[in-house]
Amino acid sequence: MTTNAQPRICDYENATYRQDFWEGGARVYEDLVERRLIARLLPPGGRRLLELGAGYGRLSREYRADQVVLLDYSLSQLREARQTLGDERFIYVAADAYHLPFQAGVFDRATMIRVLHHFEDVPRVLNGIRRVLAPGAYFLLEYANKRHLKALIRHALGRQAYDPNDPAPIEFVEMNFNFHPDYIAQALQNARMATTRRLSASYLRMGALKRALPTRLLVALDEMAQASGWLVGPSVFALNQAQDQTPDQVQLQDEAIFACPHTGRRLQRQGDALVSPEGRAWPIRDGIYVFKQLDS
Ligand SMILES: C[S@@+](CC[C@H](N)C(=O)[O-])C[C@H]1O[C@@H](n2cnc3c(N)ncnc32)[C@H](O)[C@@H]1O
Repeated sequence: MTTNAQPRICDYENATYRQDFWEGGARVYEDLVERRLIARLLPPGGRRLLELGAGYGRLSREYRADQVVLLDYSLSQLREARQTLGDERFIYVAADAYHLPFQAGVFDRATMIRVLHHFEDVPRVLNGIRRVLAPGAYFLLEYANKRHLKALIRHALGRQAYDPNDPAPIEFVEMNFNFHPDYIAQALQNARMATTRRLSASYLRMGALKRALPTRLLVALDEMAQASGWLVGPSVFALNQAQDQTPDQVQLQDEAIFACPHTGRRLQRQGDALVSPEGRAWPIRDGIYVFKQLDS
């Protein structure tokens, strides 16, 4: 669904995402599945990669591009990321993915993993991503699958609240959406991105199984299910390539890649801020480029 209003944002400011979700070992299997998929699906190399919804940088080291731009709406997540990753190859940008603060065509790689489920306006965010990609750039997208095996079985038994075969997104908890693979395929196509590979993963996300079997075995079994091409796992990975109609990748260095998220105009560095021709200043705080309203 595309709306004219500003879509809602799922705000992770000061959330304990790492601690609640990834620490304690309950998701070692999912974490490893995702890292291995990134290595397998995303073509190596790349000059500049945009990681959308990077969070605290859990996956950022997996990317081999010369430069990796971590973009997230949450400053606190990015601060955590910067503490662990440093500045050598990484740039930190606090911004809303619906309003990307970049010039067109400046990225030759992009990823968005475990993030799209927070977006109520998928066409809008995908069109924005496409704008900042160079033609031929790769975009690896992961999303939560509405048509997963458990939902299909429950539906067949009359015990599923929604129809998993209906292509419309389903908001199962506030600001958490599951998507039908056909819906996302169409949205990517509309945004002029060609899907070249697609598979689903994390089939064995069950506490009892995870406790009973070693992680390596779970991952090996999962990779067999991925290879089946069934597309009924809870998570789908789609590798896409940006099609034509934007200028070639713009070889801009460092801060020249930025643009005002509202007007698209170039920004000039003035002290600790990037400033638009209209005089709007976007601060750089603790090594993070900030393109959102700050409380203080
Ligand atoms: C579930 S976390 C995933 C983080 C990371 N990709 C990972 O897999 O560990 C979702 C992230 O998306 C970010 N996010 C949600 N809505 C956003 C938006 N509109 N713009 C930018 N980031 C957003 C959140 O701040 C959060 O860090």
